[in-house]
Amino acid sequence: MMDSFCTKNFFFICILAVVLLTNFPYNSCAIETESLTGNLLESATQPEFLNWLKIVRRRIHAYPELAFQEYKTSQLVRDELDSLGIKYVSPVAKTGLVGTIGSGRKPWFGLRADMDALPIQELVDLEYKSKIDGKMHACGHDAHVTMLLGAARLLQNRRDKLKGTVKLVFQPAEEGCAGASHMLEEGALDGVKAIFGMHVSPYLPTGIIGSRPGPIMAGAGRFTAIMQGKGGHAALPHNTRDPVLAVSMAVLALQQLVSRETDPLESRVVSVAFVDGGEAGNVIPDSVKFGGTFRFMTSEGHSYLKQRIKEIIEIQAAVHQCSATVDFAEDLMRPYPPTVNDPTIYEHAKKVGENLLGEQNVLYAPVTMGAEDFSFYSQKMSAAFFSIGAQNKTAASGGVKGLHSPYFTLDEDVLPIGAALHAAVAISYFDTHVQT
Ligand code: NI
Repeated sequence: MMDSFCTKNFFFICILAVVLLTNFPYNSCAIETESLTGNLLESATQPEFLNWLKIVRRRIHAYPELAFQEYKTSQLVRDELDSLGIKYVSPVAKTGLVGTIGSGRKPWFGLRADMDALPIQELVDLEYKSKIDGKMHACGHDAHVTMLLGAARLLQNRRDKLKGTVKLVFQPAEEGCAGASHMLEEGALDGVKAIFGMHVSPYLPTGIIGSRPGPIMAGAGRFTAIMQGKGGHAALPHNTRDPVLAVSMAVLALQQLVSRETDPLESRVVSVAFVDGGEAGNVIPDSVKFGGTFRFMTSEGHSYLKQRIKEIIEIQAAVHQCSATVDFAEDLMRPYPPTVNDPTIYEHAKKVGENLLGEQNVLYAPVTMGAEDFSFYSQKMSAAFFSIGAQNKTAASGGVKGLHSPYFTLDEDVLPIGAALHAAVAISYFDTHVQT
């Protein structure tokens, strides 16, 4: 028995030695990374750290600012970075900034947060609810900024061990104004190899994240049209050129762009979201304004829908003896390209998420026709974007409310998770992309 035990042990020791020796460089790297990332979540959930995260998030939440007006938010970020001893370039794209952690050594990895709020009156009765009438953080960008500041603190404490440089991207104007494309245009991300971003989700429980490789969100454009007719008494329509009827027919005709002209296996959306015209029940107005959004998964989809929306509205105007102008206002509201996750960065972030949160807590997410200006980064560099669960199901929250709802609330326990995930994704990226 003894002999056989010893022989077996010797056999296993030999096997172990072979495994350790053949994998030595990988294992030493993995062990080092583990020690660097292993306690991130533990650090971020320490009472003092967690309390700081909540204070920061609530300060941002109470003073929401709209696109390109994020002056106070930007100042708050700069103050926190100053107190952490992190250098930054500011302003970028009016109110944005880019912080740097590390020696400047390549590769550079970006972590991104958007800072803007929405023109919504907050209807949640919280002690830290919006103090600004008509403005609210109803999309959770207050949490995004906080999670990135949390990551900044975790990374700064480990800066000497980083094998690359982290760029903290605090951008303005995600909500419709393409802040990301302005950040890129100003060269703020030149030299950044890859970037990671997250959006809180009220539909996923806290502790769960989700994404998928390839296209994950649609591209988006907007249009506004004016149908010009000739107004008059509604009892004598033959003396008018009725723009209400012309718009009605145009709205119906636009539905065919998806139902009749798009391959059923391709995803596109055309929605007319507002019609504004006429005031009295017995007066046909001179003109009617209307408009909406269109969504697509490819650049061909974008150009096709844009061309056909214009044609359909103009032709329907002609049919009804009216005239129409169609404006895509791309100088003011740049169309968003589809968000496409780079398979390698997606896989990397997924693995890091699985290590941090458990394999069962990283979901394969469906594609959505929502849009995100993170897409501009995904066009320029390797990028991955994840949803991070922040569902608030407490009785006080009145049940789950979607993003952009005046009743939207989130579970603040997401803050340390997001901070740790951001930091872990960056740290581990350097291990597989070390440049010498
Ligand atoms: Ni958002």
